[in-house]
This record gives sequence, C-alpha cells and structure tokens, in this order.
Amino acid sequence: MLVYQQYIDHLYRQQEPSDIVTQFSKGYEDYLQCPLQPLMDNLESQTYETFEKDPIKYVKYEEAVYHALLDRVPESEKSSTTTVVMVVGAGRGPLVRASLRAAKKANRKIKVFAVEKNPNAVITLENMQCYEWGDQVTVVSCDMREWTAPEKADILVSELLGSFGDNELSPECLDGAQKYLKDDGISIPCSYTSWLAPMQCPKLHSEVRATRDKDKHPDTCFEMPYVVRLHNCHILSEPVPVFTFTHPNRGMSPHRVDFTPFIAVTDPIISPACCFAGDVNNERYGSYSFEISMDTVLHGFAGYFDTVLYKESVLSIVPKTHSPGMFSWFPIYFPLKTPVQVTAGSRVTVHMWRRVSSKNVWYEWTISEPHPLNIHNAKGRSYTIGL
Ligand SMILES: C[S@@+](CC[C@H](N)C(=O)[O-])C[C@H]1O[C@@H](n2cnc3c(N)ncnc32)[C@H](O)[C@@H]1O
Repeated sequence: MLVYQQYIDHLYRQQEPSDIVTQFSKGYEDYLQCPLQPLMDNLESQTYETFEKDPIKYVKYEEAVYHALLDRVPESEKSSTTTVVMVVGAGRGPLVRASLRAAKKANRKIKVFAVEKNPNAVITLENMQCYEWGDQVTVVSCDMREWTAPEKADILVSELLGSFGDNELSPECLDGAQKYLKDDGISIPCSYTSWLAPMQCPKLHSEVRATRDKDKHPDTCFEMPYVVRLHNCHILSEPVPVFTFTHPNRGMSPHRVDFTPFIAVTDPIISPACCFAGDVNNERYGSYSFEISMDTVLHGFAGYFDTVLYKESVLSIVPKTHSPGMFSWFPIYFPLKTPVQVTAGSRVTVHMWRRVSSKNVWYEWTISEPHPLNIHNAKGRSYTIGL
C-alpha cells in the first residue's frame, strides 16, 4: 500500500506547477529563511536580480507613479512643469525605470533622484545613469535619512517593505526621508498594513527546533520570525490587520503608546521602553482574538502585509487579496515555543508589540488565550532589526 501511495505522491510532484508563483517557489516550500535586513546589511547582486524578476511589483509601481503624475500636473501645464521624483532605496534601478516609463506614458516631464546606501548597487545605478538615463537621473550614494537634498520632491517612491510590511524598517527610513518631500507631496507607497493568522504547522515548528544553536539559549530560535513559503500548514482562522503605517507621517507629536497593562502572562517582563525616531512614534501594540472551529494544535502565527501604493494601485500577499502572479514576498512565521492544544469553539488571543530603541526595532509576541504564555523575544533578547 505504502509504495502505491509513494508512487502517486511522486507523480503529483512531477506535475508542472500551474501558476508562476508556485513555479517560482518550487523548492522553497517550508524552507525557513532569516528575514532580510536591507538597512543594516548590503544586499547581494543576486538578491536584487531575484527581486527584479517579479512580473507584477514594478508594473504596479509604474501604474502608481503614472496616476500620481497625472493628478499632480494638469494637461495644460505638462510642458512647463517638471515633477521631481525621488526614488529612495533605489537598489539597481527598477523603480527608476518604472518611474521613467510612467512619465513617458503620462506625457509628463520628470527629473529623478535615485538615492541608495549600498555602494555595490550604486555602481550599477551610476552605470545606468551614464549609459542609459543621462541627465534626467541623478544618483545619490547615501543613507536617505542623512541626505541633504538640493530641492524638495513632488513624489517619493520607495520599496522598503518586508513580509510583515514594516519589518525592513520602512517607517523609520521614510520618516527620515520625508523632510525633503513637499508639504503636498505624494509618498508611494502611502500606507502598508501587517496581518496575522493563527496556524497549525508541526513541520515548521520542528524545523525551527532543529535550528537550535548550542551556543545560544535553547529558546532563542523560537523568539524570531522566519520568512517561509508556507506549505504543510493549516491556517486556523482568517488573517486580521495588525499594524498600519502611513506616509508622509506628519503632525504627530511624540507620545507614549498606550501599552495596555498586560496581566495575563506568567513572566511579565515587559517594561515599555519609549524611544522615537525623530518626532514620530513607530511603536505599536495590539491584541487580536480568533475563534477556532476545530480541535487542533497552535504552533504560531502566519504574517502577511498589504500596501496601497497610490489610490487603486495596491500590492498584497494576504491570501484572500494576493496580487496575482507576484512572488517578491513569502509570508512570515512567528513561532510559539510550546505548541498549544486548542479545542473547537475556543478562542486564541495574540498580543503583538513593535518596539523601538535608538539602535533597533523588534517584535514581542505572546498569547493570553486559551492560556497565557511567556512573552516571546522580550526586550529584543533574541532578535532585533538594526537601525
Ligand atoms: C527591498 S530593496 C528594493 C530595491 C529596489 N527598489 C527594487 O525594487 O529592486 C531596498 C533597497 O533600499 C536600500 N535602503 C534601505 N535603507 C536605506 C536607507 N536608509 N537609505 C538608502 N537606501 C536604503 C537597500 O540597500 C536596498 O537596495
């Protein structure tokens, strides 16, 4: 019997994947990856090359810039007005190309600044500028937060998003860059939201356990998120929106996030640090409850994001609204140290914090229902994202 089953399984695996996302993700199923940190680390050329293969992302950016240009410059001013577009975090230039295409299509004049802090990517940008783009594009080699721009931008274009939206520190980078965006200027993206759903995934949980490092605390591997193409898993309830960031982010005076007093933990080690990037507070806290309809085991939470680039132009990796054909981002997995038995009709309540210090950003998470657990990654002891 087993051999028949194995043979059918083999035949099934030999099938050509039906859609481009499945084709692209072949071999990545349930493979745990550490989330990228493009702010702290310099991405490799091969990583940019993979980004650039996405057939949807840049088309959507082009569409967003196109509509923003048409909204900003009326037909009657198209020959007298030049729109300043700043692409911040330009990588090897795909968003510069998308902006130039959008301007051509909209029949509007633009001048582009391409700002990038990775010196290796800057070399590619300078080559493109020299041999292809010419004077229309100025390449700027620096951290967008520290640049003193020669003029202000009408449109600020960026793609600094991770699988959980803000986890590659787009909020902190764009808050730093918005000083050179005109008061009525447009940020593309203008907002992004992270999403969470409870998940049963014994395979992923044991894969996480297998990454235990003898030189580290045994819980460390359960106190960090993983980017993973989810495969052998069961999402136990519809994802819910968690944290939203909007840009430009003006007029917020520094204020303390209302950290709801959190009593239902066995190890209440939370001490709300209060640190802000500039005058903007990017700390967040939220608790979210899910009704579970079956007897099951909870192994953690699946994370996703969606973003509004401009008006109708959106990107999403949330399963129900996933942008068809887009493969730039896999979901993210927030594990729980101890799998939790859940009975049909009971509730799971997750608590999630985004914490910010002067050097790092990190997430802390736990559950209070069906029964409380310790806070995972308290004070960023196992995992932080460098600023
Ligand atoms: C996710 S990649 C996207 C690159 C490119 N826009 C694309 O779509 O292929 C983000 C890029 O932003 C750059 N970056 C991140 N933080 C930055 C900062 N503070 N200043 C300048 N560049 C930054 C990274 O080096 C990286 O090239």
